[in-house]
Amino acid sequence: PVLVVDFGAQYAQLIARRVREANVYSEVVPHSMPASEILAREPLAIILSGGPSSVYADGAPRLDPAILEAGVPVLGLCYGFQAMAAALDGTVAPTGVREYGATRLSAIDASSQLLAGQDLEQNVWMSHGDSVSEAPAGFEVIATSPGSPVAAFEHPGKRLFGVQWHPEVGHSDRGQEVLENFLHRGAGIEPAWTTGHVIEEQVERIRAQVGEGTAICGLSGGVDSAVAAALVQRAIGDRLTCVYVDHGLMRQDESAQIEKAFGDSTGGAKLVVVDAEKRFLDALAGVTDPETKRKIIGREFIRVFEQAQADILRGQGVLEGDGEGGLETAGPDGAGAKTFLVQGTLYPDVVESGGGEGAANIKSHHNVGGLPEDLSFELVEPLRALFKDEVRAVGSELGLPDAIVWRQPFPGPGLGIRIIGEVTKERLDILRAADAIARAEMTAAGLDRDIWQCPVVLLADVRSVGVQGDGRTYGHPVVLRPVTSDDAMTADWAKVPYEVLSRISTRITNEVAEINRVVLDVTSKPPGTIEWE
Ligand code: XMP
Repeated sequence: PVLVVDFGAQYAQLIARRVREANVYSEVVPHSMPASEILAREPLAIILSGGPSSVYADGAPRLDPAILEAGVPVLGLCYGFQAMAAALDGTVAPTGVREYGATRLSAIDASSQLLAGQDLEQNVWMSHGDSVSEAPAGFEVIATSPGSPVAAFEHPGKRLFGVQWHPEVGHSDRGQEVLENFLHRGAGIEPAWTTGHVIEEQVERIRAQVGEGTAICGLSGGVDSAVAAALVQRAIGDRLTCVYVDHGLMRQDESAQIEKAFGDSTGGAKLVVVDAEKRFLDALAGVTDPETKRKIIGREFIRVFEQAQADILRGQGVLEGDGEGGLETAGPDGAGAKTFLVQGTLYPDVVESGGGEGAANIKSHHNVGGLPEDLSFELVEPLRALFKDEVRAVGSELGLPDAIVWRQPFPGPGLGIRIIGEVTKERLDILRAADAIARAEMTAAGLDRDIWQCPVVLLADVRSVGVQGDGRTYGHPVVLRPVTSDDAMTADWAKVPYEVLSRISTRITNEVAEINRVVLDVTSKPPGTIEWE
């Protein structure tokens, strides 16, 4: 792989994603991983990410010079660029000019390897206080900016390259080309990685992990769990059972649709449907804190899976005891066969749940940080390294129907995290009615593929005064949160046409008695997250 060494950058995984867009497989590793371990993975190239520190600050993550001396092509970005310069005896210092946001580059050397074919001037995204003022010996300076005398350098002989800006973000005009120049020209890597590889590799990995065991897969109706199930089905056939947990937090008619779509999407895997509404609502009674809700929902999911698995095994006559004390089974030949739990966990879930080293825990995604500690399953997570768009590509390649592949994301904890305040059946019904109207109007307006998703959020503890039919009302607001996004890591609020918003607002306030106000969330991510909890 191409290894991205994460120096505490907020979007190190974005770099990995861009590398994969160049058809080269890439993974992120923490900067705390020793150089020997990084090199032992035989990376085709290494990319050093940005990071929040100043290279000379106490406790700043260090770059082990061994990384630069191993003959492996290296590209440093922002902090990684400065760390490289410092390690090679260049000069890094505060120039007094901090550059944040769009910055004009000049003196671009289009005959260099890294910036080959680029314009002489262009806009790039910068975010730094210190600058490289002198390149290390033997390096060519190949671009400058007002605050960075050395904005990029390279030493093609040693295959070492660096830029001060962030080519991985969309705001850098020709950022992707910089990465591709590095990968294809500088490092000489063929663009050969495709979703077909992901499928082969994952099927093999699943077989190796599960061995003779059985697996159950929690199905949510979304693309992630469907693709995960399809991969596991391919790997272990009918030793997979899918479980759909109706936790009572789904949207209108959703459970019925999921059951219907199931047959097409998993190549005939077995499906068990569990009605667990009462169990979840009882567990959520009186709870208002978002993280507590997430943890409770995560825990209840697992308890239901455990029960479902015990039932399945009992049905097959292979369970010993009452299934309460863990799930080792006797197996056909009497040897212990393990039970696995398949989850459609994606890379962003892992990172945002604090799984990336040094990354903050923003929220506990129910299938990662929300898992109980006494988990009796071993997890199978074939999508753990993938981004949503990659999962969609894998789903298409596996032949899943478009209705599943292009379904808008819906969070595992469902409407439970879209009611701000306590979750009750009554409030869920109100939100379901409002949400169904918003979805129907968005679909009717042909917006389903333009917007990433549109949570509808019930502010259940807020009331406002209104007037309807000559009478005073004192109802709740709902928030429309339509967003556009590529991978849910960042998002912008979607500019839904006013007529559509107007129809949604009129219909919701007319048709849902308890709601007398509809408001629009116009916050990007960051600083907001997509969901309100
Ligand atoms: P946030 O709110 O973190 O959401 O900006 C990013 C994306 O993830 C979805 N989401 C979840 N999906 N389990 C899931 O399966 C979860 O616990 C969860 N929380 C958020 C959210 O809908 C958006 O697409």
